[in-house]
Amino acid sequence: MDGMKKSKLTLNADFRVAKVDPRIYGSFIEHLGRAVYGGIYEPGHPTADGNGFRGDVAELVRESGATVVRYPGGNFVSGYNWEDGVGPVEKRPKRLELAWNSVEPNTFGTDEFIKWCRATGTEPMMAVNLGTRSDAEAQALVEYCNHASGTYWSDLRIANGARDPHGVKLWCLGNEMDGPWQIGHSDARAYGLKANSASRMMKMTDDSIETVLCGSSNMWMRTFGEWEAQTLDIAYDTVDYVSMHSYFDNRPGDLADFLAKTTEMDDFINGVVAVCDYIKAKKHSKKTVNLSFDEWNVWYHSNGTKVDKWIQAPPILEDVYDFADAVEVGLLMIALLRHCDRVKIACLAQLVNVIAPIMTETGGRSWRQTIFYPFAQAAKYGRGSVLLGLLETGRHDTSHHGGVPDVDAVAVLSDDGEELTLFAVNRGLDADDPELLEVELQKLPGMRPVEHLSMFGFAPDAVNTADSQPVAPALMPVPFFKDGAAKAVLPAMSWNVIRFKKTDGNG
Ligand code: AHR
Repeated sequence: MDGMKKSKLTLNADFRVAKVDPRIYGSFIEHLGRAVYGGIYEPGHPTADGNGFRGDVAELVRESGATVVRYPGGNFVSGYNWEDGVGPVEKRPKRLELAWNSVEPNTFGTDEFIKWCRATGTEPMMAVNLGTRSDAEAQALVEYCNHASGTYWSDLRIANGARDPHGVKLWCLGNEMDGPWQIGHSDARAYGLKANSASRMMKMTDDSIETVLCGSSNMWMRTFGEWEAQTLDIAYDTVDYVSMHSYFDNRPGDLADFLAKTTEMDDFINGVVAVCDYIKAKKHSKKTVNLSFDEWNVWYHSNGTKVDKWIQAPPILEDVYDFADAVEVGLLMIALLRHCDRVKIACLAQLVNVIAPIMTETGGRSWRQTIFYPFAQAAKYGRGSVLLGLLETGRHDTSHHGGVPDVDAVAVLSDDGEELTLFAVNRGLDADDPELLEVELQKLPGMRPVEHLSMFGFAPDAVNTADSQPVAPALMPVPFFKDGAAKAVLPAMSWNVIRFKKTDGNG
């Protein structure tokens, strides 16, 4: 241990960032590729239930710990008529789906999605179409979903088999409306006015809902910053969150730089927080608008893959994730947790088959991709409050992201104070050069390390497939504990979950 590189994290139970909103462990199902058809929904599959929901996939979704699930898009929503997806299935129209050049059969729609959410214990987060449609159709969908009865839309829901309201609390006001690729893309002022009006009408229909304004599609958009400022200037009083999206790639294959890219997520969050608070100050408002990071992931493996046009459920964006991607996803999860005072919702995009932690064969098997694990472990153990940690660690240079910390870490203390979980990544790449992390615990009497799980030791490009899934966490020796501090070895290029529990000792 003596010759090892050393980092130190000091944690004090009195110093907290904020409580983690469980909705930070959200995910996303879009009508895209095989996410719905052949993914979560496949009548005739050996594991399908009476609704056509795949049982094997539902089981993996439960295991992933996903809390909210955003639906039905994504770019898809900007050309979607939600009315096509409700009512008797045999009467639903097949449509050309212009965002992804596919054919949409509409055999799965709003009511099926809500049933699927109930079956998987997830909370629906619905998006309305503000691309080709208006505030009126958005209002009608809220009335269809949430109004008890006695009106055209609510009675239609009941006639379609759903007596009780769906009670959807979270609503996205369109998708990536700043992006020129988006159907119905407009400038910030036009979108701000439309979103403001839609949000008002939706909240007049059900004043218990929360709405998410479209922010920038990524921080490299030319309009980033100004888009948020202009749209919030119009809609600040009627919305609750601003959305953020970011995808990360390892395209030149520069591993150190890839693992440094997560610092962009910190920068992006800090930027959007600054704009939200600028508008708050400008308006002399007491209200704080928070962030919904409702699309984030690694995405690049499938880029350039050719898929036939105008077919149903084509295999689009089926990234096969490797071990390096799992470490990156762990780092991104750490960044989201670090900002839990302002990031209240986040959605790993997506959930099944499409840039997803869960993969399936249509008609066949399902399995966990490498990125499944950091997400699922964070969703399981990252419950409570993030502690403000003082992290002393070395830095190393990267080709495009300057000097970055060797170790990144975040700790979550459970609400009852009985458990503490540390999520940590060692960005170091030299397999012979692990890092010794000392974790000093202050005002946490009796807290002792009980488990260390780590993903490490795989080739960066190691993957899981239907036939074999070697890339998974392994148990490490429980960290040594003495004089109020634990000492854990973080292998090179590793994602770690170190769990502490309160014992009777006084530490
Ligand atoms: O998640 C895939 C796509 O990425 C979504 O449809 C869109 O919102 C984003 O550009």
